[in-house]
Amino acid sequence: MKSSSPTRYTGTAIVLHWLIALLILVAFPVGLFMTDMKLSPLKLQIYSWHKWAGVTVLVLVVLRLVWRTMHRPPALPDSMGPLEKLAAHGAHWALYLLMIAVPMSGWLFSSAKGFPVVWFGVLQLPDLVGKDAALADFFHEAHELLAWALILIVAAHAAAAIKHHLVARDEVLTRMLPFLKSR
Ligand code: HEM
Ligand code: HEM
Repeated sequence: MKSSSPTRYTGTAIVLHWLIALLILVAFPVGLFMTDMKLSPLKLQIYSWHKWAGVTVLVLVVLRLVWRTMHRPPALPDSMGPLEKLAAHGAHWALYLLMIAVPMSGWLFSSAKGFPVVWFGVLQLPDLVGKDAALADFFHEAHELLAWALILIVAAHAAAAIKHHLVARDEVLTRMLPFLKSR
């Protein structure tokens, strides 16, 4: 029923959205940069930071999906055509899927490579698979490919949000922002 549809995202949804976005936008370039570094204690430290950020994304996405099952997001504006709405919903679900698949493939890669993941240096996560070179190659490729897919969809998603604000001049961006009131 349209009349009961909320007009804004809740504070929880906004905090989770921007925290996860920030972590992904840092983890991605760090991932690219660290793989090109010469072996050193700093390289290993950066690998750990990358994994901590990635596992945090995984935890926050699970929280966000729990939020999502309990709250209906605001409806898309009626000015959008059916195809546009389909693209927006498709992109959102692809993002949710990739926000799980990218950290999971990283974790699987680390396990197959024989490096345990110790979250923030404190909580050792279980190895998901045994040490296996062929499997490690597979998950490495998968992690790289999925991370690029994630970042490309994020770029399209952010461009669409900005277009909503500047061209369509609707409330789609402001309802996901903590500081701008909807017009
Ligand atoms: C949303 C979260 C994440 C993003 C966006 C991300 C992104 C990336 C990117 C772009 C690379 C470089 C790929 C390459 O050029 O080879 C990379 C490498 C790597 N990632 Fe992630 N990653 C994430 C989460 C994780 C997690 C959770 C783990 C492990 C627990 C992980 C482990 C690794 C490792 C070990 C590498 C290095 C691969 C190598 O040595 O070549 N990543 N990641
Ligand atoms: C890594 C970065 C990002 C990820 C993974 C991401 C993911 C998502 C997802 C999954 C949703 C759907 C929420 C739902 O209805 O369940 C969403 C909504 C939204 N995102 Fe992002 N986002 C990212 C970055 C950005 C950026 C940079 C912007 C703005 C420039 C942005 C603007 C928005 C807006 C305005 C909405 C609400 C759309 C609506 O009301 O239908 N996001 N985001």
